Amino acid sequence: MKLEIQNTENFIDKAKFVEYKANASKANKFLYQKNGLGNDFLGWVNLPNKISEELISDIEQTAESIRKKIEVMVTVGIGGSYLGAKAVIEALSDNFSTLKNETNPKMLFAGNNLSEDYLFELSDLLKTKDWAITVISKSGTTTEPAVAFRILKAELEKKYGEKEASNRIIAVTDKEKGALKQLANQEAYKTFIIPDDVGGRYSVLTPVGLLPIAIAGFDIRKLIQGAIDTAKNTSVEKNENDAEIYAAVRNLLYDNGFTNEILVNYNPKLSFFAEWWKQLYGESEGKEGKGIFPASVSFTTDLHSMGQYIQDGKRNLFETVISVEKTKYNIILEKDKTNLDKLNYLAGKNIEEINKSAELGTLNAHLEGGVPNIRITIPEINEYNIGELIYFFEKACGISGYILGVNPFDQPGVEAYKRNMFQILGKPGY
Ligand code: PA5
Repeated sequence: MKLEIQNTENFIDKAKFVEYKANASKANKFLYQKNGLGNDFLGWVNLPNKISEELISDIEQTAESIRKKIEVMVTVGIGGSYLGAKAVIEALSDNFSTLKNETNPKMLFAGNNLSEDYLFELSDLLKTKDWAITVISKSGTTTEPAVAFRILKAELEKKYGEKEASNRIIAVTDKEKGALKQLANQEAYKTFIIPDDVGGRYSVLTPVGLLPIAIAGFDIRKLIQGAIDTAKNTSVEKNENDAEIYAAVRNLLYDNGFTNEILVNYNPKLSFFAEWWKQLYGESEGKEGKGIFPASVSFTTDLHSMGQYIQDGKRNLFETVISVEKTKYNIILEKDKTNLDKLNYLAGKNIEEINKSAELGTLNAHLEGGVPNIRITIPEINEYNIGELIYFFEKACGISGYILGVNPFDQPGVEAYKRNMFQILGKPGY
């Protein structure tokens, strides 16, 4: 991957940037020396290198044996126990995989909302499918996945009987704490452990993400390799590495009044990657009255909805574009005899050439409109490059949070809605 920041230069002071880069290097050292805030949640820093062959094989074998017997895998989880897997699977899948007859099981998600209609409609669909559940919760007590799991487990037992249902449930949870772990022990579910020192939003390279990604049919070894290489490239030995530079530049922009960052893609396969990124940065930085607000758009789709605001609205936005060099397939626009649609000037071009022109045209327009632009380019969407992006953004997020002066590894604000909801619902103790 390649990071380009030259289109932020008109919006930042060079001398200040040197200062911010020095802070970023210091913050990166804190991550390795474990002497910053939240240092009991730094397991992700060296994680890619520490994923054992035993764990990878166990995940692959479990995935392979369940894949053979099902049409649909329902992955139950929310937040960090959901977004990473969903982001990677969407990025790597055919846009229309749910409607195509492929050998891979269809991946559906539940427990990421409290919609009754969603659960009803899902249960209804599953009546006619051969299916299984992967239930993921680090705490093992989160309400949304627990509610969905209770409903879906009952459906599964109704369909296959209790014994076979427990062969069709895989749990990913803490090594000892939480209701899910107790249930998994009692029902003898195949279980994978989430390391204590890896928080939810940094857990995609643990079984939380790796298992569903493997079940969906993707190569987790390549994903991990991308992360391993990026861990090396963003380590403290690499002075002024991309993660430090990205963290430094976005903090300097923030201090110059650019308080909103928009992650932009020009390929709809990456739109869920932005959801993962939003959680990573929003939950890590948005605290103590501080933090860049992370937003996202998919272009060119959203140029026809959010484009006006980005071009012309309140000038507190900067963009980080994930640009993909090469598409998987090619379609050439042919010359048309009648040219009634007046598109013959594009004849002979492939669609991506038009997309890239839109990207360049948008970049220049937004720069003129006062929107600083950071660009991250990957050669193509594949497991390796997505693994690179994951680790790059995680590392930059840890550094960025430290520059901002917050603990990037806690999420105290998430409790507020839960307290109120539990009180309203009459949960004992609230
Ligand atoms: O990043 C986080 O820690 C959160 O988003 C959690 O992942 C989310 O709340 C789900 O928690 P759990 O895995 O304990 O069910």
